[in-house]
Amino acid sequence: MSAKQNEFVLVMDFGGQYNQLIARRVRECNVYCEVFPYTMSIEEIKKMQPKGIIFTGGPNSVYEKDSAVCSAELLKLGIPVLGICYGSQLMAHLLGGKVATAPVSEYGKTEVSIKGESSKIFAGVSKETICWMSHTDYIAEAPASFKVTASTPVCPVAAMENEAEKLYAVQFHPEVMHTVEGMKMLHNFIFNVCECNGDWKMDSFVEATIQNLRQKIGGGKVLCALSGGVDSSVAAVLLSKAVGKQLTCVFVDHGLLRKNEGDEVEAIFGPDGHYDLNFIRVNVKERFYAKLKGVTDPETKRKIIGEEFIRVFEDEAKKIGKVDFLVQGTIYPDVIESGLGKSAVIKSHHNVGGLPDYVDFKEIVEPLRLLFKDEVRKAGRELQIPEYLVSRQPFPGPGLGIRIIGEVTEEKVQIVQDADAIYREEVAKAGVAKDLGQYFAALTNMRSVGVMGDGRTYDYAIALRAVMTSDFMTAESAQLPWEVLAIVTSRIVNEVKGVNRVLYDCTGKPPATIEFE
Ligand code: XMP
Repeated sequence: MSAKQNEFVLVMDFGGQYNQLIARRVRECNVYCEVFPYTMSIEEIKKMQPKGIIFTGGPNSVYEKDSAVCSAELLKLGIPVLGICYGSQLMAHLLGGKVATAPVSEYGKTEVSIKGESSKIFAGVSKETICWMSHTDYIAEAPASFKVTASTPVCPVAAMENEAEKLYAVQFHPEVMHTVEGMKMLHNFIFNVCECNGDWKMDSFVEATIQNLRQKIGGGKVLCALSGGVDSSVAAVLLSKAVGKQLTCVFVDHGLLRKNEGDEVEAIFGPDGHYDLNFIRVNVKERFYAKLKGVTDPETKRKIIGEEFIRVFEDEAKKIGKVDFLVQGTIYPDVIESGLGKSAVIKSHHNVGGLPDYVDFKEIVEPLRLLFKDEVRKAGRELQIPEYLVSRQPFPGPGLGIRIIGEVTEEKVQIVQDADAIYREEVAKAGVAKDLGQYFAALTNMRSVGVMGDGRTYDYAIALRAVMTSDFMTAESAQLPWEVLAIVTSRIVNEVKGVNRVLYDCTGKPPATIEFE
């Protein structure tokens, strides 16, 4: 899969916070899409032959000295362009319109009146439609050659277009779900204006990637750190299909995984499993527990787990000897977040860093580099990886180590594993998992008094967490049905020794984080 093989739409990143979402929405229309920085040259763009270009929003004002600006030439290539928010203002600015600070900033859901009877991007859209606005500047006057196609009481030019030149602009954000008919508008742009066919499909990705990997790797040796999470599993299966036993997967069982997880991973990837590859499971829980003994500070725990992981992996890699390729499960949001354009927001603590420095290898392969998380899952299904693995929720690298507040001990790991397994089982049984981004049990370091039978207890409290989130950078606490929480609570206090109290975490992110440490 690449921009060259498929028709594709280019998202030009001016630093907007929703740039990933735009690319995703386009791909949801089965059109391949990638995000590129606004500094990309016209020559490079022409070479890629995009069917359309979308300008994202951005934090600047077009009239600021150092604002993100592209050349006006780009608007004269005959390639359809859709400007969104800052992108719309930039289009107006470059073509002689007037951009100014709006008398009142518009933020949030706003009713927009559509005027363009025959506008191609508003085909089938209601005359009054709720759109998501987030701006302080606005287009005060559209360029002379443009027709105004939508407005709000604050915004005289909420949308404008020059149909002949295939230039379209909207002040609001069609890509966010609060813009009720936003998907229809993007669909219209992609199919009615850019005239795409929608030929990009996941099976073509899987096939093309396997072929590419085969070519690239030839007879080389490949090493993959397999965690059993979605990304590393899909990456490993792609490689196994491409080069079979040239691939060795090392699975470090650090004793901080969810209940039965180690055995589940081994059942799938191990010698009796489904795939043609070499699988090494390293059981090192004692080593990790020993290192964590007496440690209570969250950051120190994270550091110890991360470093120990690398050390174990390094030991195994040494036994294998020199490898040619090291597999990384990098996915597209990681690529975008680590520095495209001006929008770089870095979540550095989330990666087990440094791996490549410790292992003797020639090159990194990142087969999922261009996929969003849901696309990785789709590829996983295409590859017939078992559903429970493909739809697995994210699980942090330091594992249960950061879901046990305070010191980690084997006994506490068992408590949190058992409580978490009950919680996941009941949530799944009740069918309420669909809207949850992540849900898990954590073990607080609080003990409190309880009564069981006729006796006093002094045991731990389990905290249950369930959040709704699309990007994991912000999250809302989910309102799980009380009946489900009641069943989970009753089962945990009855079945898990050492627990006499269950608490539900109602905090959003911010101010809390999703994990407890
Ligand atoms: P927080 O707790 O920062 O978590 O709100 C956001 C998302 O990141 C996951 N997370 C991690 N993932 N290594 C990882 O691979 C880590 O060190 C790590 N810490 C948090 C967390 O589970 C949530 O999905």
